[in-house]
Amino acid sequence: MAIRIGVIGGGVFGETHMQTFAQAQREGRCELVALAELNEELLAKRHEQFGVRTYTDYREMLAKEELDGVTVVTPDHTHRPIVVAAMKAGCHVLVEKPMDVTVEGCEAMIAAAREADRLLEVDFHKRYDAYHIALREAVTAGKLGRPLYGYAWMENRVEVPRDWWPGWAVKSSPAWFLGAHMVDLFRWLIGGPRGRRVYASGAKHKLKSLGVDTFDCVQAKIDFDNGASLSLDTSWVLPEGFEAVVNQGIRVVGTEGIAEIDSQNRGAEACFAGKTQETMNLGFKLHGQDKWGRPRYTGYGFEAIADLIENIAYLKSGGKIADLQGKYPDGLDGLENTRILCAIHESIATGKLVELEK
Ligand SMILES: NC(=O)c1ccc[n+]([C@@H]2O[C@H](COP(=O)([O-])OP(=O)(O)OC[C@H]3O[C@@H](n4cnc5c(N)ncnc54)[C@H](O)[C@@H]3O)[C@@H](O)[C@H]2O)c1
Repeated sequence: MAIRIGVIGGGVFGETHMQTFAQAQREGRCELVALAELNEELLAKRHEQFGVRTYTDYREMLAKEELDGVTVVTPDHTHRPIVVAAMKAGCHVLVEKPMDVTVEGCEAMIAAAREADRLLEVDFHKRYDAYHIALREAVTAGKLGRPLYGYAWMENRVEVPRDWWPGWAVKSSPAWFLGAHMVDLFRWLIGGPRGRRVYASGAKHKLKSLGVDTFDCVQAKIDFDNGASLSLDTSWVLPEGFEAVVNQGIRVVGTEGIAEIDSQNRGAEACFAGKTQETMNLGFKLHGQDKWGRPRYTGYGFEAIADLIENIAYLKSGGKIADLQGKYPDGLDGLENTRILCAIHESIATGKLVELEK
């Protein structure tokens, strides 16, 4: 019973999705059937790389292909209609983070998933990082006592918003692009509380001067309904000489313990000829080879995407979506994430503390 997968959006991260499913296909776990991508040049390139059927219109792909699951890897603000259409076509869906940039968008996706009785998963890949899994097990076992507070940071080098997609970085922010990961990670580590109040600030200097009108940085303090609190630093203007494209980490303090993870520098550092010092987070995406020289991708970046296959396999074998609750980042996690991120942007716009509805 092959699990038939389609990908919508074949850009920077869409390629990672396709690599994940191409590898799973080699392992006999799924079939990567088709790609929908607006950019015809890119579509041709991905066809050459992966040999899939290609469509410029995702609706045509959904109508013509019998797919079990699709992944949505298009810009944040475009997720909603695509996810809803995929649900209506009877597909299980993995959507990239942030699930949507509006609370209503997330609610519409959840409603569509319920109506179609299909799985809605969000790619919060920090949950699949071995270091974070170990920390969650420690928190769940009570080794830190009652979680009190945390601090998380996630930062990109400036080329990410400036060069990767200046066209839609203006509709995003470091909080949407990076903060989404860390807000989800903290919630997941401490048992999934809801946000209660948020205060945030942000600054626009460098990127605006480069013609990309978006925040350089966003800082937030988020209080949760279980009494815990998170301080969050995000930015995407680190200089090109910085040691990695991403800088990230988290610390959690409880009544009985403390845990700190440098989620970027895992101890692998190098300075190669003609380059500056590099820190390699090999846990995220490692492009290796198997014994026969074929690509072999490992790391939590790939595993989080491949989780869709495992979930669909379970459902196709007669399992129920309800049985999977709590075992994957679902639509409600995506909704809570967006609710908090919307409050962060509201607080920046108003300069005020934002109280979230219970
Ligand atoms: N989980 C992660 O680590 C991670 C990393 C990078 C990006 N992302 C997320 O992935 C999503 C895509 O990011 P990206 O960096 O790949 O962006 P990108 O701009 O490189 O790629 C998006 C692609 O979607 C295509 N597209 C847009 N509308 C479409 C439509 N209606 N039908 C078909 N194709 C369409 C565009 O032509 C583009 O090629 C975003 O939500 C982003 O936040 C997640």
